[in-house]
Amino acid sequence: MKILVVGSGGREHAIIRKLKESPKAEKIYAAPGNGGISKDAECVNIGAMDKEKMAAFAKENDIDLVFVAPDDPLADGMVDALEGAGIRAFGPRANAAVIESSKVFSKNLMKKYHIPTADYEVFDDPTKVMAYIEEKNQYPVVVKADGLALGKGVIIAQNHAEAQAAVKEIMEDKKFGDSGNNVVVEEFLTGPEVSVLAFTDGISLKPMVSSKDHKRAYDNDEGLNTGGMGTISPNPYYTDEIAEICRKTIFEPTVAAMNSEGRTFKGCLYFGLMLTPNGPKVIEYNARFGDPETQVVLPRLKTDLVDIINAVIDEKLSQLDIEWTNEATACVVMASGGYPLSYQKGIEITGLDENGQTEGATVFHAGTKFENGTFYTNGGRVLGITASAETLDKALEKAYKAVDSIHFEGAHYRKDIGKTK
Ligand code: AMP
Ligand code: GLY
Repeated sequence: MKILVVGSGGREHAIIRKLKESPKAEKIYAAPGNGGISKDAECVNIGAMDKEKMAAFAKENDIDLVFVAPDDPLADGMVDALEGAGIRAFGPRANAAVIESSKVFSKNLMKKYHIPTADYEVFDDPTKVMAYIEEKNQYPVVVKADGLALGKGVIIAQNHAEAQAAVKEIMEDKKFGDSGNNVVVEEFLTGPEVSVLAFTDGISLKPMVSSKDHKRAYDNDEGLNTGGMGTISPNPYYTDEIAEICRKTIFEPTVAAMNSEGRTFKGCLYFGLMLTPNGPKVIEYNARFGDPETQVVLPRLKTDLVDIINAVIDEKLSQLDIEWTNEATACVVMASGGYPLSYQKGIEITGLDENGQTEGATVFHAGTKFENGTFYTNGGRVLGITASAETLDKALEKAYKAVDSIHFEGAHYRKDIGKTK
C-alpha cells in the first residue's frame, strides 16, 4: 500500500514509525512532514489544510490510504473531501470532528446523553459571562473558548480579576479569533488526569492503553498550558476498575450519542478524563490522536496498524483483536525557549545522528527542519525523546539520559515528567 500521512508534528512521526513496521506499507508519504519525518517518509510540500492539493496528489500517486492526523484539517472536512474524490481516508468527517472543534457542541452532547462532565453554561456576550461569574462567586472558575485554540484556549481563573482578563482576551481581544465568539464557563474539577485514545468504527470501540499528558510549561505544573510537554503510558491512576466505569459511562455512550445525532464518528476518539472524587468525568474530547500521547501509546502497539485502520474504515473493528506490550513508555518534549509564547526558529540542534536519532531512545521530531546535513529547530515543540522499559522509572531514566545528549540554544524541557498528578 501507498500511504499518505497528513500533518507535521511528533504525533505524525510516531504514526509513520508504526506504519513503517507493517509489511503492507510499501511507501509512506507525509504532507507536509518535517526534517525528522523526512528520514522515515517522503515529505510532500502540501499544507495540511489544502484539501484540493491533497486529493489531487493522492489521485496522481495512486495513494491507497490517507491518514489525517491533525485537528484543523479534520474539522475543515479533509476526510469528506478525500472520500468525495474516491480516496480511502482514516479520520472522522467534519460533522463528527465537531466533537473537538466546538466545546459548546461537546458540552451540550454530554448534557443531553448524561455523560459525566463538569457543570457549565454557554455565553456569547461578555457582559453576561461576567454577571454569571460574579453571581456564582466561586473560584477557581474555568473559562474556555468554544473553538480550536492549540490547547491554549482554557483559562483557570483564580479570582474575579483573572476571570475578567480571560473573558476580555477570548471574547473582546479575540486572541483565538472566531474560536472565542462563544465561551463555556465551567465548574473547576480536581483529580488526576488521564488520556484514553480509542479506535472506533462507529459501531464498536477499542480503547488503547492509557496515558498521561503534562500540559503545563514548567515543573510542578506551573506556567501556561501548552500542547503537552511530556507523556507516560500506562497512566498509573487508571485501574482496570476505572477503565470499566469509563467504558460503561463515557466511551460507549459517546459513540452511541454521536450515532443518535447522525454524526457517526470513525477514527481515533480521544477522551481527556479527570478522575474526580465523584467518579471519572470528561474534560474534553479530541477527534484525533493526542500529541504527545501518541508518542507513548503507539510504540506499545503490537497489532499491525494498517490492519486496524482498514478495520475502522470498513466497519469491522469488532472482529479484530488489538494487542499491546506490557512495557512502560515515557516521552520528554524538548521545546524552544519561550514556548508556548513566542520563540525563535532556525537554531542548530546537536547530538542527533544523520537520521535525527540518538542512542538509547527514539526521537520523534515535532518541529525540525533538515538542511545541508544539519537539523534546526522549526517550531515550539521541537523533539519528543521517547523510551520504553519494563518499568516507568527505567523508561524515564532512559529518556532523560538521551535528553542530556541533545542540545540547542534555549531548549527547555520538564524534569518531572511522570512525577506529578
Ligand atoms: P482542555 O483543553 O479542555 O483539555 O483543558 C486544558 C486543561 O485545563 C486540562 O487538561 C485540565 O488540566 C484543565 N481543565 C480544563 N477544564 C477543567 C475543569 N473543568 N476543571 C479543572 N481543570 C480543567
Ligand atoms: N496532548 C493533548 C492533545 O493532543 O490535545
